[in-house]
Amino acid sequence: MAEDKVSTTDSTEIKKEVEPKQAQNEEDGESGEEQPLDIGEHYVVQRSDETWHPAEIIQTRFNDTEQQYEYYVHYEGLNRRLDEWVPRSRVMSSQFNMDAKMSEKMWKEIPVASDVLTDTDRKITRNQKRRHDEINHVQKTYAEMDPTTAALEKEHEQITKVKYIDRIQIGRFEIDTWYFSPYPEEYGSQNKLWICEYCLKYMRLEKSYRYHMGECTWRQPVGKEIYRRGTLSVYEVDGKDHKIYCQNLCLLAKLFLDHKTLYFDVEPFLFYILCEVDKQGAHIVGYFSKEKESPDGNNVACILTLPPYQRQGYGKLLIAFSYELSRREETVGSPEQPLSDLGKLSYRSYWSWVLLEILRDFRGGTLSIKDLSQMTSITQTDIIYTLQCMNMVKYWKGQHVICVTPKLVEEHIKSSQYKRPRLCVDSGALRWTPRRHNKVGAKK
Ligand code: ACO
Ligand code: ZN
Repeated sequence: MAEDKVSTTDSTEIKKEVEPKQAQNEEDGESGEEQPLDIGEHYVVQRSDETWHPAEIIQTRFNDTEQQYEYYVHYEGLNRRLDEWVPRSRVMSSQFNMDAKMSEKMWKEIPVASDVLTDTDRKITRNQKRRHDEINHVQKTYAEMDPTTAALEKEHEQITKVKYIDRIQIGRFEIDTWYFSPYPEEYGSQNKLWICEYCLKYMRLEKSYRYHMGECTWRQPVGKEIYRRGTLSVYEVDGKDHKIYCQNLCLLAKLFLDHKTLYFDVEPFLFYILCEVDKQGAHIVGYFSKEKESPDGNNVACILTLPPYQRQGYGKLLIAFSYELSRREETVGSPEQPLSDLGKLSYRSYWSWVLLEILRDFRGGTLSIKDLSQMTSITQTDIIYTLQCMNMVKYWKGQHVICVTPKLVEEHIKSSQYKRPRLCVDSGALRWTPRRHNKVGAKK
């Protein structure tokens, strides 16, 4: 500030003139002379959909271009995916005390922000509202966790508290990121990263990216194409053979996954990359990874659909694909825990659909949970969980027994829970035989 240079003898007088201006600036959130707000304090903050929500200030930074402070905020009770950097103008001037009562009051008074739904689906039905609550709210408080989980969770949150990479450019998409990802130092502190959609190399500058796109000869993922149906392809990539590609994929995926910790030790995994193919090349849509040998019987470690492709059926296609591989291996499998909010929704939807299809078409005889597991490669635990959600199982004489009537099946098929997937796996288009080390889970 220019005033700082004034000699001490004059400073008191000048300060008198300056004070009201500073106060005004703080009030208005104007740039330049404001003092940053304190980390850890709670304010009501305007979210990008213009609703106001109680939030904690996690970090501050000075934006040189805008000449003002920005604040990284966490919205109380909402998923960390929605944490974001906001300018001072979106922080309500008066601070509030975030004690339990107050927070409850705020929840009631302030319209709850519409969630991750895109701008085009702003109209929220009651069902969507329920899903919103399910999707965006944090899953458990520390008090509800066992002490070890709580300690690990706190450490995880501490390390990944602030996300510096706000956006990535990949192919024709500019995408807002969701979570912290451990890109190396100078890359990790960029606002925006540029990523080659084919080899997944990441760059800090648009200039380097443009140069790279001129030089890069890749037009599809490395590895073997094991599935092709219409414009959809799946490539299998071995983490041992293509370490850098797989590490780059994991770093990219972490931007959208909160709880996954696999970034560098990719050798024990296989990666299945789903692409939309056109004249230019095979564009990455999503992927899942899978341990070559899983002691826990997991057939998926991480699964992701890149945001521009989400909610179009690709996620459930990837899930169906993972079960198709298990079927070929003659095993059952389950996704690695914990499932994210969106992961849980997608799996639940897939499992319900698969089981309802079988139950609807089943005529006569008896059907056990084990039979269902053998038919679908879904584990008995996941089947019981799904049937319980649909009120179709009873615990009788020490075991779970399927308990359905055609009417109950029909009711569920008519309900909004039942969704025929938009995209299905054509098993005839899968050119893949399991390797010996692919075997996971218990033999059927
Ligand atoms: N809001 C509400 N519902 C949603 C949303 C959303 N943002 N996203 C997906 N869903 C619902 C869909 O409506 C659909 O259910 P329905 O068919 O019964 O309506 C279901 O979830 C799946 O939809 P898809 O279009 O098939 O799945 P999508 O391509 O969106 O991918 C995925 C789902 C992979 C979970 C995606 O959301 C994602 O990548 N999320 C970020 C990463 C993540 O959380 N991965 C799972 C972690 S757990 C693990 O890795 C084992
Ligand atoms: Zn490239």
